[in-house]
Amino acid sequence: MIYLDNAATSSPKPQTVIKAVERSLREFCANPGRSGHDLSQRAALEIYECRKKVCEFFNGPSEDKVIFTPNCTHSLNYVLKGLLSPGDHVIASSMEHNAVARPLHQLAKQGVEVDVAEVIFDDMDATLRSFGALIQHNTKLIVCTHASNVTGMVLPIKEIGALCRQYGILFVVDAAQTAGIIDIDMEDMNIDFLCIAPHKGLYAPMGTGILIARSNLPKTVIEGGTGTMSIEIEQPEDLPERLESGTLNLPGIMGISAGIDFVKSKTLDRIYNHELKLMQMLYDALESLPNIRLYTSRPQKDLYAPVLSFNIGGMTSGEAASKLNNYGIAVRAGLHCAPMAHKRIGTLDIGTVRVCPSVFTSPNHIHELVNVIKRIIHSSKNYYIY
Ligand code: ALA
Repeated sequence: MIYLDNAATSSPKPQTVIKAVERSLREFCANPGRSGHDLSQRAALEIYECRKKVCEFFNGPSEDKVIFTPNCTHSLNYVLKGLLSPGDHVIASSMEHNAVARPLHQLAKQGVEVDVAEVIFDDMDATLRSFGALIQHNTKLIVCTHASNVTGMVLPIKEIGALCRQYGILFVVDAAQTAGIIDIDMEDMNIDFLCIAPHKGLYAPMGTGILIARSNLPKTVIEGGTGTMSIEIEQPEDLPERLESGTLNLPGIMGISAGIDFVKSKTLDRIYNHELKLMQMLYDALESLPNIRLYTSRPQKDLYAPVLSFNIGGMTSGEAASKLNNYGIAVRAGLHCAPMAHKRIGTLDIGTVRVCPSVFTSPNHIHELVNVIKRIIHSSKNYYIY
């Protein structure tokens, strides 16, 4: 199978990641931070080393502010629900995933004011102005995706971060689609809370998430055993324990550690250039076909993450993806859990076919995809032609 669904989760995982997961289960399979015996301490040490690695990779504040979560959605929920109270105002972008949209919808029902800043395609300055125009006296935070999981469009994170600093507003970034592909520097971008899906661009196993928190969260969503302050009925104040109740995913975290090593060995620049070139190649090929609909301009460095959406003829994205699957090509169709983004590009009714490469994708894979698309178009003459 040609796997082009890396925006959902990267596949295959590198051998080094698989080995790191296996090694943790063979060599130090114990509950970290819960017991004094050697095996538990070894597990805790390995996790601590991974916190340091994550902190350094994203230029975070310190390793104790690196929190391991079950996934990026949990990270976003912890932050949004931990910070926002009735009467607060929050601004999100018009390209958000449901991991942001749904928690904000719940919070709105409780009296949090939510505004949506329009993302203006290929115009970072105009997008920045959309955010700026919505700031009001009670704006507590801005939350936005670094890059859309539907179109790949990158938002002006550094500039929005500077805006937040200027107005004393907290800045939350959903880096699900970019971490491990586009450089993220929390300090330079003034990011207060960075939410990461390491099973995508960092090649870690699924069931892993990261939150890097510059400051503590007043409220918690999950409380429970942390291995510390057990006598206290109150959830501990200190990070990371405050946000890490319950046994940690040791094998997954070891996968994150090996995944970061893997990405560092390739370098972000090479990964981004390689994947973007593949998307440009795909874009150019699709643009020359008569009945393909594309939704963005040609992907360009710094403006797009390597994610491309399109539709074939008048068929729904689901029909097209199913035909691609029959030819051995894996893509994701539908709304990609991001109806806001689909509303923005006008595809709420049919969704889009989404392609996302990884370091393991080659130009030949893209050629094969294009050939198959041509065959599908050829055999679907009864479909409406754009
Ligand atoms: N959010 C993931 C995607 O875009 C799962 O497919």
